[in-house]
Amino acid sequence: MSARKARPPKSGAPSRAKSTARPRAKAAGAAREIPADRFFRDIVASMRNGVVAVTRDGRIAFINDVACRTFGCKVTPAHLGRPFFDVLKNTPDVVRILAGAFDLSTLPNRAELRLKPSGKVIGYTLSHVRDERGRVTGAALFFKDLTRVEQIEERERLRDRLAALGEMAAAIAHEVKNPLAGIEVMAGLLKRQVPDSADAQAILGDIIKEAKMANAIVLEVLEFVRPIRLQVEHVALGEVLQSAITMAESKVPRRDVVVSCALADRLPDLHGDPYQLRQLFTNLLTNAFEALGGRGRVAITAGPLVPDEEGATPDSHVPPSALIEITDDGPGVPSDLLDKIFNPFFTTKPQGSGLGLAIVRKIVDAHDGQIDVSLRPSGGTSFRVTLPLASGEQLFA
Ligand SMILES: Nc1ncnc2c1ncn2[C@@H]1O[C@H](COP(=O)(O)OP(=O)(O)OP(=O)(O)O)[C@@H](O)[C@H]1O
Ligand SMILES: [Mg+2]
Repeated sequence: MSARKARPPKSGAPSRAKSTARPRAKAAGAAREIPADRFFRDIVASMRNGVVAVTRDGRIAFINDVACRTFGCKVTPAHLGRPFFDVLKNTPDVVRILAGAFDLSTLPNRAELRLKPSGKVIGYTLSHVRDERGRVTGAALFFKDLTRVEQIEERERLRDRLAALGEMAAAIAHEVKNPLAGIEVMAGLLKRQVPDSADAQAILGDIIKEAKMANAIVLEVLEFVRPIRLQVEHVALGEVLQSAITMAESKVPRRDVVVSCALADRLPDLHGDPYQLRQLFTNLLTNAFEALGGRGRVAITAGPLVPDEEGATPDSHVPPSALIEITDDGPGVPSDLLDKIFNPFFTTKPQGSGLGLAIVRKIVDAHDGQIDVSLRPSGGTSFRVTLPLASGEQLFA
């Protein structure tokens, strides 16, 4: 190691320096010296990227913490030297890639993989490990967790789609609004001209009712496409959730549905618009009550967001945020519909307008938050919302 060799003093250096240079360098070198093998292991272990190395005979030689977290496996020193297909059995795709490393002459560089069953996305490079004589003795997989990048890109795509859809809907709604108002007024006039015909009165009454309903939908659409102007203030999450529960109950009878609400102690206020946030949670709770049909459980939990859990790297500057989860044990969303439920006008309900979740997403976006939906293995749906906490506040200060 270079630390062992003390450099010769520069020519022209004072002779006093000459006599002290050697022992000092030696002392410093001794203090700094770290066994090469341990140091290299520390480098790889401390990397922000995931690293897995396997030997040619199929054993795990090394795996760092990032890889363990991403693959959802717990690896102790006792696992080193064990067959990698056994240690990495939770991620069959990774096993397949590592197993193929010794059959390929050109290994993938900058490839992407969606891990099953977690759905996480990694960008990886696979390389051979060679000894000093150039013989392949193992393979190493280096990767970066791209799940968050993917989610951001997906959100961007969805935002573009919604913007286009919104523009179209606004144009149609605008065109339909005036004829609808005309139908309502003329039906009213006609109704006054035939006061003695009960049948005509009934039919005209229906026409007016239907026109009013259609007008309400048009207003809802126009309201949806209008940009949100937030009136931002400090918002106590507990109060917003309580009023959202009350509002959702007024829309859908809760009957025997049990609602539990667990908020972390001393969670700081949110930084947001209290009315919009109430609307957001009301829509989610209304859906949960509708899905449960009067029987079941809704669990609301809230606490500070731990960035690492979200796949964010420590350098990605996630602002202090709260994570709020609303989980029901209803029938869940069919998995082939999961990516459609936030689309405006997507509904599976006879009376639904399909705008509830589109409005939720719009409010979350306006707050620079995030929303994800997942299905619970035991049945039911879970919505995870992250929202910024009031700036300048320290978590649990
Ligand atoms: N908690 C849930 N459990 C099961 N399915 C859900 C849940 N939340 C939403 N969905 C599905 O997502 C669809 C879209 O929901 P969204 O709230 O946008 O519209 P909607 O509830 O159908 O109508 P509305 O405009 O009245 O809210 C629903 O029709 C339903 O199929
Ligand atoms: Mg709804």
